[in-house]
Amino acid sequence: MKISEVLHCSFPVWYPKFKHISIKSILIPLPGEFLEYLHTDGVVLPEGCLVTSEDRDSDEDRVGEELDVDWDSDTVEATAPSFPEFDAAIKKAIKMLGGKVFPKLNWSSPRDATWIAFDKSLKCTCPSDVYLLLKSSEFITHDLTQPFIQCEDFDERDDQTDVGYSLILRRWQDLNPGYEFRCFVRMNTLIAICQRNHTAFYDFIRHEKEDIVSDIRSFFYHMIHLKFPNESYVFDVYRRDQGKLLLLDFNPFGVVTDGLMFTWDELTDSDTNLRGTDNETQPPVFRYKEYGGIQPNPLSTFGVPRDILDLATGTDASKLVDLLKLRQQQQEDDTSSEEEDGAQQT
Ligand SMILES: Nc1ncnc2c1ncn2[C@@H]1O[C@H](COP(=O)(O)OP(=O)(O)OP(=O)(O)O)[C@@H](O)[C@H]1O
Ligand SMILES: [Mg+2]
Repeated sequence: MKISEVLHCSFPVWYPKFKHISIKSILIPLPGEFLEYLHTDGVVLPEGCLVTSEDRDSDEDRVGEELDVDWDSDTVEATAPSFPEFDAAIKKAIKMLGGKVFPKLNWSSPRDATWIAFDKSLKCTCPSDVYLLLKSSEFITHDLTQPFIQCEDFDERDDQTDVGYSLILRRWQDLNPGYEFRCFVRMNTLIAICQRNHTAFYDFIRHEKEDIVSDIRSFFYHMIHLKFPNESYVFDVYRRDQGKLLLLDFNPFGVVTDGLMFTWDELTDSDTNLRGTDNETQPPVFRYKEYGGIQPNPLSTFGVPRDILDLATGTDASKLVDLLKLRQQQQEDDTSSEEEDGAQQT
């Protein structure tokens, strides 16, 4: 993996060419002082940001209300930075995107920080929602500090790469995670596809697997193949309906990207069954979860004897009582025959 290949997967680089097949997004270049703020430890929200989506609606009710706080004069107050222009640009973009946005930087979204958000999602409706997520995310820190760490041509002591950091705001979409797929392209060939949310079981996938693969192949060869500058890369798609696909993201082809249901040894080793010959006779390998560990098939219970089902589900208490009595009787019989054996030996 080379620095140039990682740069091609940076959102501001790929989006202009593929925006007609992706989610509408607005890019806002990060001002130097905001970059510095992201690099500093601690979460102090910028001035004028004390309103979050939680209390935004009730804000007017609070005019004139005094906060009853006993500020300790010894407390060291962290100074709140202020980015009025950046703030205004974010507000304008949110409005243009319909009031709800999904934030990310050049490569990563703050997926690891949803726990801190009011509604535990990445949905943002005001600048402070965005700041809080960005400041709390390790994935964002990775984008800022070491985006090229795995590149073979990266030299830490002499890194002159100008990344051109931007905040990306994407129109919020209520996506069904079962409709997302990760696709692996090696040497311009689509070699592998798997479900993006790889721990969940989606029953519809096995019924539609041929259509899913054929839709993704057709989308790839018509819309992406040879248009994306890398020979090897990973892309994520959303299959909303039959024949209706949306490009979500590009990722570098290498360990910095999660292979999900494939290992990187499998994906990079040309001797494995992912040989990289996606043609009429050998389509890409498609992996999906074939059964649900915690969602048993309700029909399977028809194959189990009725008494066992009644005992397991507790639907017939008298059968459980009978079973316990039987077990007790067996134990008593066992102990009395042991005692008899012992008596005979002495
Ligand atoms: N516009 C959007 N609205 C709502 N949810 C979204 C939107 N875009 C992406 N998502 C959801 O967020 C998830 C992560 O998005 P994205 O792939 O952009 O993040 P990422 O940090 O690049 O992830 P990865 O590290 O796996 O490449 C997607 O799988 C999708 O479920
Ligand atoms: Mg990504």
